[in-house]
Amino acid sequence: MTDGLLPILYLIASVTFILGIKLLGSPKTARVGNLTAAAGMVLAIVGTIFLYRHNGQPLHNVTWILAALALGTAIGWVMAMRVKMTAMPQMVSFFNGMGGACAALISILEYKTAMAEGLATSTGHSLATMAGLIIGAVSFSGSIIAYLKLEDRLGDIRFGGQQLVNNGLLVATVVVGGALVVGSLSGISTLYLLTVMALIFGILFVLPIGGADMPVVISLLNSFTGVAAACGGFLYDNMVMLIGGILVGSAGTILTVVMCNSMNRSLLNVLIGNFGGASGSSSGGSSGGSYREVSAADAAVMMTYAKQVVIVPGYGLAVAQAQHVCHQLEHELEGKGVTVKYAIHPVAGRMPGHMNVLLAEADVAYDKLVEMEEVNAEFPTTDVVLVVGANDVVNPAAKTDPTSPIYGMPILDAELARQVIIMKRSMKAGYAGIDNELFYRPNAAMLFGDAKASLTALVNEVKQV
Ligand code: TAP
Repeated sequence: MTDGLLPILYLIASVTFILGIKLLGSPKTARVGNLTAAAGMVLAIVGTIFLYRHNGQPLHNVTWILAALALGTAIGWVMAMRVKMTAMPQMVSFFNGMGGACAALISILEYKTAMAEGLATSTGHSLATMAGLIIGAVSFSGSIIAYLKLEDRLGDIRFGGQQLVNNGLLVATVVVGGALVVGSLSGISTLYLLTVMALIFGILFVLPIGGADMPVVISLLNSFTGVAAACGGFLYDNMVMLIGGILVGSAGTILTVVMCNSMNRSLLNVLIGNFGGASGSSSGGSSGGSYREVSAADAAVMMTYAKQVVIVPGYGLAVAQAQHVCHQLEHELEGKGVTVKYAIHPVAGRMPGHMNVLLAEADVAYDKLVEMEEVNAEFPTTDVVLVVGANDVVNPAAKTDPTSPIYGMPILDAELARQVIIMKRSMKAGYAGIDNELFYRPNAAMLFGDAKASLTALVNEVKQV
């Protein structure tokens, strides 16, 4: 009876994973999606612990397994409850690293067991063992470096001939792994050597990449972890692990590609780590043209007498944590009969969905967030665009200057509105490290200051108009 039950539980769990991903596609259903997939995972884990049989024998060490599960759940729970919204990428990276480590450990154990029992393994089995080990170890060490960079505990480390060293180490790792697969090398010490090589490669691979490119790297490492987990599923002939791994692997790959396309950069360009300002901090970039400044009082008048105001949020909104006061401004303007919308660029901020998450935190209604393709058609008939801490995503050079590093990147056509008010602290560049000609256009005006302070001033002024 129980023999047939486990595959059914695995099937149900696999369906919940797919459903979960589907539901994650919209902010309205994302929470349910997350819980659905998590419930499926619990089903698969509990089913495996109590129903799995190997040569008719149940799992040993169930007490240890349950104790480890309880400990891991407690740690994960506390971390997730405590994490700030802005520190989400770090946490994703850390959890992803743990997944990679698990996959690598599975491979080590499998190899040791096969050696101890003198089992002859098929080439497919050995290949899955080595692939799981290498990819899992790279994902683990790479994710930890990404975590440290996002925490600002580690800068970008670049040295001459770095790519050569990295490529050399990668080739050597694959050669040793291949030799272990075909049997020309063997033994546990060689396996440990391979593990160390893969761990060092993971570190060296992420070290030179700029801090601001970490979301792309994390997404890529996430797909690695998925592939490594799928190798584990293959080793154990475990369908739910295989399906889960493949889903994570493909979702991570798709997200990586989407992010690169939205920035109009190749993955190679991201990985070589030579884009814009080193870690995405605002530096340099002013061309010295002449620009206009506007006071909060004047900006408030322009916005209050507008029919439609479109707010373009960017990285600076997140830095200033100004989402709540931004929502307050929207509320005040709507009270005066102004239509307010938010224009969401796919890579505004520093992680996928950054602006959606921030604005949702401030209770901004989902239907006010308009995607780029849709909102671009509205700019020519918009009276005022308020750019809050955004820069690259409204830079017209992406359309007009073939020499610009962001040339070809799809942007929000904010410059087509009647008036554009740009809120930032200075004339410094954004992530791409380049000047923005929008700031010098006749219909544009700068409102300098921290986004939270400027928005607060604006809210007060709007109240008085
Ligand atoms: P950016 O182009 O980086 O511009 C942000 C601007 O915010 C800066 O120019 C900065 O100017 C301003 N700012 C910073 N702190 C502020 C504060 N406290 N108050 C007011 N303004 C502040 O950001 P964006 O327009 O959102 O574009 C995102 C960039 O990140 C794109 O180039 C994108 O390719 C890249 N990127 C995104 C992702 C994802 S997935 N979202 C991943 C990797 C890379 P001041 O210093 O003058 O204030």
